[in-house]
Amino acid sequence: MPGSPISWHSSLPLTEVAPTRPGTPSLIERLSRQTGIAPSYIGARLGTHQLFPFQNTPADLIERLLVQETSFFRHAGQWTMLRNMLREDPVLSASALRVWSTACATGEEAWSLAFLLQSEGKGRSRVIGSDISPSAIAAATLGRYTRLEAMGSFRDLPEFARPAFPLASGEVWDAPSNLRSMTRFCVHNVLDPMLSSELGGPADLVFCRNMLIYFTEDAVNRALANIASAMRTGGILVLGASETMRDNGLFEPVETASAIFWRRTGRPAVTATPMAGAMPRP
Ligand SMILES: C[S@@+](CC[C@H](N)C(=O)[O-])C[C@H]1O[C@@H](n2cnc3c(N)ncnc32)[C@H](O)[C@@H]1O
Repeated sequence: MPGSPISWHSSLPLTEVAPTRPGTPSLIERLSRQTGIAPSYIGARLGTHQLFPFQNTPADLIERLLVQETSFFRHAGQWTMLRNMLREDPVLSASALRVWSTACATGEEAWSLAFLLQSEGKGRSRVIGSDISPSAIAAATLGRYTRLEAMGSFRDLPEFARPAFPLASGEVWDAPSNLRSMTRFCVHNVLDPMLSSELGGPADLVFCRNMLIYFTEDAVNRALANIASAMRTGGILVLGASETMRDNGLFEPVETASAIFWRRTGRPAVTATPMAGAMPRP
């Protein structure tokens, strides 16, 4: 807007970063409450993207501040460890598991889980992938990925998965029907309880990787309580390679040396009421 006293083109107007009236949350605070993401991170991200709040709906802004970096079998070492646990762990060695990938972004993590379960003879398992982003869930549901020259969805394949995934640039992987019949996706905000009707019962295995690092402490606690209440006692929670959690009584590390796999204790989780209007439903 040429000639305007407010710089519309220079990123977020100050009035939206700071509260306009005392006691009124700023845009950044509102986005943080809705997503769990720390205000400092939101400010930096929206500024970098030069977003204009008056030209974007809150749902558009949320989409733009999310980091949807992912790949098949991301952190390959974790998947090799998980494969061993699917054979030996008292809970995960069952022939059919209920599995939830809580921040699955464009779906690679959920499809990797379905592939691994199928190849371990657990094809009657059910995998649900969820994310706050409707556009990411649309891509996940499509289930079609192209191998790129650098980085991209297939950059981190463990040895056991290589033969089944594209190795040449430009090659496409379309989720096969045996994996599609095991896998479903839905839009879900991890700050809200997961409906047991979506999961079909308490989850045996939950992935929550590379999301909590962006959250405020309150949001981490809220998300972990929701996840814990969706899990069976003894079930396994997998965090990202650089993530850990404070002792909250809800989980204990499977091995003290590794802070990646956490076992659900029997302690009841206290979950908060759903965040009204927090999640943009499609
Ligand atoms: C970096 S990606 C992680 C993807 C995958 N778990 C992995 O490790 O490769 C983080 C994901 O968290 C999602 N996310 C952020 N806040 C969320 C929330 N409150 N509820 C559900 N998903 C959320 C983002 O949309 C994004 O897809």
